[in-house]
Amino acid sequence: MEHKRLSPFPADFLWGSASAAYQVEGAWDQGGKGPSVWDNFVRIPGKTFKETTGDVAVDHYHKYKEDVALMAEQGLKAYRFSIAWSRILPEGSGAVNEEGLRFYENLIDELLAHQIEPVVTLYHWDIPQALQDQYGGWESRQVIADFTNYATLVFNRFKGKVKHWVTLNEQNVFISHGYMLATHPPGVSDPKRMYAANHHANLANASAIKAFRELGVPGKIGPSFAYGPNYAIDSKPENVLAALNAEEYNANFWMDVYMWGEYPKAVFTWLEEQGWAPDILPGDTELLKQGAPDFMGLNYYQTATNAFNPIDGVGLGKMNTTGEKGTTEEQGIPGLFKNAANPYLEKTNWDWEIDPTGLRIGLRRIASRYRVPVFITENGLGEYDKLTAESEIHDDYRIDYLRRHALAIQEAISDGVEMIGYCTWSFTDLLSWLNGYQKRYGFVFVDRDEADEKDLKRYKKDSFYWYKKTIAANGANL
Ligand code: NOJ
Repeated sequence: MEHKRLSPFPADFLWGSASAAYQVEGAWDQGGKGPSVWDNFVRIPGKTFKETTGDVAVDHYHKYKEDVALMAEQGLKAYRFSIAWSRILPEGSGAVNEEGLRFYENLIDELLAHQIEPVVTLYHWDIPQALQDQYGGWESRQVIADFTNYATLVFNRFKGKVKHWVTLNEQNVFISHGYMLATHPPGVSDPKRMYAANHHANLANASAIKAFRELGVPGKIGPSFAYGPNYAIDSKPENVLAALNAEEYNANFWMDVYMWGEYPKAVFTWLEEQGWAPDILPGDTELLKQGAPDFMGLNYYQTATNAFNPIDGVGLGKMNTTGEKGTTEEQGIPGLFKNAANPYLEKTNWDWEIDPTGLRIGLRRIASRYRVPVFITENGLGEYDKLTAESEIHDDYRIDYLRRHALAIQEAISDGVEMIGYCTWSFTDLLSWLNGYQKRYGFVFVDRDEADEKDLKRYKKDSFYWYKKTIAANGANL
């Protein structure tokens, strides 16, 4: 629908930006921190672009005050960051590392002193290596109690200071890349094991939310899900059905469980046919139903377009894992759907489709399916930015991308979607997991190439100033 006039952003709309511990902190073995699975995985030859690690990252651990000062200068309302579980509990459970807790306390206090709301993610992919070694991490039900204990510790320490909490970041990504595509730790490729690990992550998520409520922590809590709404390539009924399959398989399969404690029937039946369905034990469904989130956090980058795929059709294909740009080949799930290029969409230089209208479509779908407020916890453009001789970065392409997506949010608000905020990905440039430091997302350029860490000097990009203006105008300038 078209609106004659768009509704304004709510007065308390959280204009924010986001990061994750492993991608920014560095100090991987300092301050009493234990190793996480990522600290070890990146050391396996051939896993990341030019063997890049997050050992130093952008050294946010030591430079957090400088980074918060930049956030304050920009007028940021919220900063979303994650806590590294193994910085708090080096062994995953047991002895608490007070120095780790103090690092996050200092960061939170620094943000609050500058009127920036901390949005805390409990888990952004870095399970302690000790738990991986002890019982196979997410593959064991023991992880439910350990994650809940870790979350409880953090809730008790920071309650009252933090109002918005994110439980698991992109469960669909860390589970599918970790246990199917084998591109993330623990590098397994086994669907049966994948769905078991995923079920345990669902239970851990619900258990942490239940603990949050029992402790009476003030504030709101929810997961951040990587959501790419699915479109049919055309109106041929088989293709429309394929898009429905894709939406159920890629999205409802997770979000229905978060909200309602039950897997969507069609996908679950299909998993049973394959022999891959997880074991649902007595008590599981009750626990899942006690963990309904207060909001749905969505990380939105692009949509997916789908077509019919026969039972002996296209499989997962090869993933691009070397950090070179571009996806490699058509992918799909035989019998359910395959992905196709959308003829109407342009792509970024990393071959990600650009689709602001898809964000509005996704917001409408989620708000009407689950009837909870939505928080965009990530959205942004990865590009090869260039520092000019005058030490400037002219990223007008990023401004254009962010402006169009922010406008799509305003349109969704005008459609009646209740929105909490918008966190761009990312505040500073940071480590792009498998892609090293060449793919940049930030408002702040960090001078670091693969060959030379230099002094990790920060430079404000043109987009920094654009977002500053947008925040000051509460989006009225879009
Ligand atoms: C999603 C993840 O949460 C984040 O860690 C990652 O760097 C961005 N998307 C970009 O791919």
